[in-house]
Amino acid sequence: MSTPSKRRPLFCGNWKLHGNIADSVELATQVRNGVATLRDTDVVVAPSFLAIESVARRLENGPVAVSAQDCYWEDKGAFTGEVSATQLRDAGCRYVIVGHSERRQLFGETDATVNLKARAALRAGLLPIICVGETLAERDAGETLARIGTQLDAAIRDISDDDLARSLIAYEPVWAIGTGRNATPAQAQEVHRFVRTRLGARSAAVAAATRILYGGSVKPDNIVALMAEEDVDGGLVGGASLVVDSFIKIAQAGQTAKGQPAKGSV
Ligand code: PGA
Repeated sequence: MSTPSKRRPLFCGNWKLHGNIADSVELATQVRNGVATLRDTDVVVAPSFLAIESVARRLENGPVAVSAQDCYWEDKGAFTGEVSATQLRDAGCRYVIVGHSERRQLFGETDATVNLKARAALRAGLLPIICVGETLAERDAGETLARIGTQLDAAIRDISDDDLARSLIAYEPVWAIGTGRNATPAQAQEVHRFVRTRLGARSAAVAAATRILYGGSVKPDNIVALMAEEDVDGGLVGGASLVVDSFIKIAQAGQTAKGQPAKGSV
């Protein structure tokens, strides 16, 4: 097990396109109640756009923060169908996921637009959760670290060191998302270490502060081993975050793994 990290663990439940407003508020309420006694871990939920405001109202002044799953990079204008980072902030968000592989693969997101979105988030006072990850073909071709390096460099361009230290990076191997096949702890650590070293090219302080989450089939039974790795600071959780007991167990197990005993129980 690693020594206790100065970086505060963070777990974000990415609810993707699931749940109506009432379902989302109910799930958020259960998460809030379940993590009420977790003191040393940040817990975040990311409902669909339509449920954000209702969920944020329900979670107001509590320990669970709200994230959006995407944002646009302009604050206003003729951009039919888009939602700006400032609107998300207004609706109660504190975080926003940018560059999720589903956005990259299904909706044409590029390294350049991920950067625009991350910068817009920071301008609006949101903390971006910047996703990077390789496909199975890239991993099999031995291109994992090169791909991650390219994505990371592009995503953090023109972001100040202070802003970068507050931002989060999520390593999500595309082949592990929704497949039930997670990266091994050693595979995750290799990439997380690579990301942290790359951040260190900016400054040692950024490398030490920036939290790097793992995502891709995180479950209660694999999170402890993942969190035991030195550079894994939390999780971006899809399917398992829709089951309240699973998500709470993940947050508790993660906290325990970092040497910060969970004070709550499911
Ligand atoms: P998963 O999704 O946990 O269902 O694999 C993770 C994600 O897409 O963020």
